[in-house]
This record gives sequence, C-alpha cells and structure tokens, in this order.
Amino acid sequence: MGGNIRKEMPKGFLWGASTSAYQVEGAAEEDGKKLSQMDVLNRGTGFADASVASDHYHRYKEDIALMKECGFTAYRFSFSWSRIFPDGVGEANPKGLEFYDNLVDELVKNGIRPVPTIYHYDMPMALVEKYDGWVSRQSVDDFVAYGEFLIRRYGDRIKDWLIINEQSIIVEFWKKKNYVPEKYHGDPQVKFQINHHMNLGQAKLSKRIHELVEGGRSGAAIGYSPVYGLDSTPKNMLAMLNAEDLKNHFFLDIYFKGKYPAGAFRYLEEHGMAPVMEAGDMDIIREGKLDFLGVNYYASKCVRFPDADKNELTEAKSNLSGRKGAMGAYEVMPDFYQYMKNPNADTNDWDWTIDPTGMQYLLRDIYERYEIPMIITENGLGARDVLEDGKVHDDYRIDYWSRHLQAIHRAIELGVDVRGFLPWSFVDVLSTSNGYQKRYGLVYVNRDDEDIKDLARIPKDSFYWYQKVIATNGAHC
Ligand code: BG6
Repeated sequence: MGGNIRKEMPKGFLWGASTSAYQVEGAAEEDGKKLSQMDVLNRGTGFADASVASDHYHRYKEDIALMKECGFTAYRFSFSWSRIFPDGVGEANPKGLEFYDNLVDELVKNGIRPVPTIYHYDMPMALVEKYDGWVSRQSVDDFVAYGEFLIRRYGDRIKDWLIINEQSIIVEFWKKKNYVPEKYHGDPQVKFQINHHMNLGQAKLSKRIHELVEGGRSGAAIGYSPVYGLDSTPKNMLAMLNAEDLKNHFFLDIYFKGKYPAGAFRYLEEHGMAPVMEAGDMDIIREGKLDFLGVNYYASKCVRFPDADKNELTEAKSNLSGRKGAMGAYEVMPDFYQYMKNPNADTNDWDWTIDPTGMQYLLRDIYERYEIPMIITENGLGARDVLEDGKVHDDYRIDYWSRHLQAIHRAIELGVDVRGFLPWSFVDVLSTSNGYQKRYGLVYVNRDDEDIKDLARIPKDSFYWYQKVIATNGAHC
C-alpha cells in the first residue's frame, strides 16, 4: 500500500492524468457539434451513452481547478474531430474551436502542460456515412487536413502531439472502436486496411508536426500488453513471439522503424488479411517516424499455441458483465497463437490481468528495441467505486498505482527514458465498453448509467494520495 518512502522520479517528470473527448465532454450535439461514430455506437448498449458523459464541456474550469489542486503539471485530453469539423471536412465550427481555445488557455494559465491526442476513436459520423470512414483511403487526406488545422492553430502552445490513440485496440475491437458497415463484418482484412490508412495519416501528420511546429514532437499512444507464453514448451514460446509481432511490433515497428515486421506481415498475406498498399506508401511511413511513445498499459496477456480443436480465427469479445470469468472470447489466430487467461495472475472484475511487473517488463523491452522516450499516457484500475458519506475509499486503486509507479521507477533506474505519468483517468469517464459501472477516475462523477444526477465532482482517496505523490515527485507512493 501507499505511504512508503521511495526514491523520486527524475527532475521535470510530468505528473497528471488523461481523458478523451467523447468519454468526458458530453454536449454531443451542442454548439454546432455533430455526431461522431462513438456517439452513435454507444447508443443502445444498455450502458450510458456519450450525450452527457461527464459534462466536462460545461465544467472544464472546475475540472482544471481540481487538476491544479492535485498538483498536475500535465493533462492529456483529445480533440473531438466532429466538434471542430462537424461534417469531418469543410468549415471549422467557431464554437467548437472556442471550447478548445479556452481549455488550452486555462491549462496553460494554471501551469498545466496540454498533451493532446488528435484522434481517440471518434471519427465524424458524417464521414462514415459519406465513404465508410477509415475503410476508405479518402479518410487519410481528411484526417491529415483536420490534424494539420490543429497543429497550425495550437502549435505555439503545444509541442508534444499524440496523433492516434490505441491503433492496436482499434484493430482488435475493430467493429466496436469504428462504425463499420455490416457489409464488411465478415472480412477481417478490413481491420488491417483501416490500420494501414491510420498509419499513413499518422505518418503524414508526424511530418507536418516536424515542418510546422518549432520544437514539435510527434507521438502516438499505443494500447500495449506484453505477451507471456503459457509455459516453456517451444510451441508456446513461439506463440508468444508470434503474438508480440502481430499485437505489438506490428504498430511500433511502423512508428519507429518505418516498416511492418516481416513475419507478421507474411502471416497476414498467407491468410488473405494483409492491407492493400499503393506504391510509395512505405516511403510515406518511413518519412513520418515518430519521436516518442505514449504507453497505455493496463494488463499483460498470456498465449499458447492454438489447440487443434480451437485453431479457428476467433475475435476477442470483452467481458461486459463485470463478473470475473465471464470473458466473452479470447482471440485466436490460426497456427499462430491463442489468447487465454494467465493462470498465474490476478484480474479485476472484467478479467483484466493486474500485473505491475508487466510495466517494468514492457518499458525495458520497448526501450531496448526502439530507444525512444516514453510517457505513460494511460494506466488504471477499472472498478465499481462506492460513494459513502460523500467519500470514495478506493484503496485498491492506490495499491494498483503505487505498485505500477514502483515498477516505472525501477525501469528508470535501469536506464529507460520515461518522462511522465498520465494515468487513466482524471475524472470518471464513460468507459468504452462498460458505461459508468466501471470507473477509473481520481475524481468521482456523481452519475450512473440510468441517472445523470448532479454530476458533482468528488475527489476520491486516490486523489489525495496522488496529491502527495506529485508533491514529493514520486517519493511517496
Ligand atoms: C483504453 C482507451 O483502451 O482503455 C480508453 O484508450 C478506455 O479510451 C480505457 O476508456 C479503459 O477501457 P474501458 O473499456 O474499460 O473503458
């Protein structure tokens, strides 16, 4: 548990937390904003939708005052494409811009560095209707136009740009993190095509950041799970290598080496899933390498070589009930790997492994392979918090973060370049899959899936613990 005296993080280490636009802002159709694909996908799930979310759009000043009280030096948020360009392209929406102007200025005024994500799952619905969104190559140009607009407008105040959030998760849950028309649902190649379009858009924007922003640095936030083999049998160790290549290196090799890993790409070709490319695509990707990595780490994963009777392409399905063991399905890539529960690790109620050691493991592994600076851009424990007498005693979350911070500290001692900790999430947000049943925030938001109540902000015990962590630059964790 917290409270032990430990060593500080390096000088200048960034402390703060993260959110994303559709999960926190609300005002989904206010002041000229039109719907994003996430606004639409979240309707009718049985959980809350994004129309009000945590009402940050109207309460950003109160929220920033709380960030300041906690001692934040940085805050990660995302821009909403359909708030700025309601139709995805064309004229910018003045009211939408006003919101982000105010947000950025209020952060800067309070000494909090804005760390934005340009794209966090929320493609404008208008572009889905127009040309099926990311499935179409037209998305690349429209995304670059949107991103370039932001870079030009905010590049004087914002130097570190995270371009795309969690491409790895977008591929894994391609029909949940994208509005993909039914006609494509049976074709898994489409998810790698979407990913390729994102790679092109991101690389082009990275280049623009270097050209247009003085001192600008490009990055991406990757959803990263180190993969462990079930045991030391050669086949299971091979499955581990296969999964590392397709689930992790498949993204990071693009970002930092400008290429797809050969083995994983060949595997996709053999199975008819490789993306269609045009001449010159790999030059675009090579010219748009990124400068730093945002690491979103929640859980490690475990694999084995597929059993003969389970050797069929299977897509992952999340545990939606929050009952331990009710995981929908584990991913299987035939003759490559089969995901499974790690028999040696505990999980939260949604079957996400709790593994602080994995944090040290992945930081060292990524650093040795790519030698790039990293910021932790998400890390957190989803739980059913209980509000009792105006307080939330989330000691389980303090314990989770405390152990992950110690792992980060150890990785730094061993030479890894980690520059900040921006856990998930600042206030409670709309979970991507479990509404407000599963909460992550340092600050409780008084609402649930059925009733938006008064949306009051109530700092949890973890908020006060984190305040001390920040005040001691990590020594109290
Ligand atoms: C990351 C996302 O995948 O994990 C966040 O970047 C998300 O948007 C977070 O909220 C936790 O996932 P979930 O499904 O529990 O909300």
